[in-house]
Amino acid sequence: MAGDKATIRFEGRDLICRTGTSIATALWEAGIRHLSHSPKYGRPRGVTCARGQCTACLMRVDGVPNVRVCETPLRDGMVVERQDAGAFYGAPMQKMLAVGGDLVPVGFYYKWFTKPAILSRVFLSAIRPLTGVGRLPERAEAEAEPATDLGRIPTVVVGAGPAGLSAALTSDGPVVLVDENDAPGGLRLAALDEAAAAGCLDGFAGLTSARAGLNHLAEGVAAADVDLRTGVRVVAGYHPGGLVLRHGAELATLACDRLVWAAGALDAPGLFPGNDVPGVLGTRALLRLLVRDGLDVTGRTILLVGGGQDLWLAAALLETRGAHPSILLESDDNGTDLATAVARRWPLHTGLVLDRAHTAADGSGLRAEFVPGPGPGGGGRLTLDADLVVVCRRAKPIYDIPYQLGVDLHLAPEQGGFVPRGCTGSGWSTTVPNGPEVTFVGEAAGETPETVLAGAGEAS
Ligand code: FES
Repeated sequence: MAGDKATIRFEGRDLICRTGTSIATALWEAGIRHLSHSPKYGRPRGVTCARGQCTACLMRVDGVPNVRVCETPLRDGMVVERQDAGAFYGAPMQKMLAVGGDLVPVGFYYKWFTKPAILSRVFLSAIRPLTGVGRLPERAEAEAEPATDLGRIPTVVVGAGPAGLSAALTSDGPVVLVDENDAPGGLRLAALDEAAAAGCLDGFAGLTSARAGLNHLAEGVAAADVDLRTGVRVVAGYHPGGLVLRHGAELATLACDRLVWAAGALDAPGLFPGNDVPGVLGTRALLRLLVRDGLDVTGRTILLVGGGQDLWLAAALLETRGAHPSILLESDDNGTDLATAVARRWPLHTGLVLDRAHTAADGSGLRAEFVPGPGPGGGGRLTLDADLVVVCRRAKPIYDIPYQLGVDLHLAPEQGGFVPRGCTGSGWSTTVPNGPEVTFVGEAAGETPETVLAGAGEAS
């Protein structure tokens, strides 16, 4: 039950935490932001995607290594540890690597000391503890239950955000719609509904219209002959056209003739020094922590950097939760939303761009430094302190499962990252040889949240 208390053991101390949340969120609320280290340079890592799509939150939980704590529910009595005990991380390691950088070029660890076998074994046993990827489990894992076979489904839609809901409603024949969240509409609809109920969406015309459209689409799916499965994640794809689904601890497999890939995108904060500091994350991760985990941000200062509808949605939800949003707009096409933010008296700066982020000297929060932007009207340098720095910029389409199915991908920076070769935007289709037709829609096809939310608004 959210709000109940549980005690967990973290590196020799007892922490009293709120239940009904993830381990990562409970640790953040207890003041612990630093969950792991990068394997090579030993840089601290904290929650990054909050979606099980990276390695930043791998910890040892109850003796089991490499547990993604952003997705692991907190339970009373858990023992949680960072899993690099014994390695010398942080400044000493970085200094050593800086000095010996020429001796250890990228990839040296898999090119050197590979022969003879005895030397390789000695080398690996010395280097493995430095990577911080954990020791073997202290006990054997329980044997997994066999997966249930759901048979062949004509159309499977993955992702029940705006693009996935529209695709499910316009597909012919039987459709299964799966989404990892608890309700259709994605995290954005839950955030929009909560902010609207508190009156914090007033004046944001685009968000208000997107909310109406998303609710209309979700109601349409509920009334249509769509088999909606929430709390379900697609964890693997196998050729030709097979998918593995996970619901809690249960696994299921199915085959499909047509896959509509509407799984959205991952945050991409962009390149700047300190983009990996614990506490720097994107809007999608922030919404997930707030909506799914109920992250307690009461009284916290959250700095939002960038622009677009997700920035205004995050600010409205933060205000709903009793936090203090502080905004640095990097784009100048914010129209009436900007006037609404001014009327709300949110601290707001323009004409600057994020130059670097780092942990404050006393370790209590983050410090972000800004420099004048390229356009007119830029001020001088600016430094802002915050509990979290949330960057709202273009995201990377998620493509892992289509890639596993055999879809040919290529890097297209203008579309945000890897997309199918030839993909021209939402609704683009390809056929996997001897496999299903795969159609990419929404952010998974490189669309921006603005386009996707505007599309939802038109549905109402
Ligand atoms: S997998 Fe947990 S933060 Fe990315």
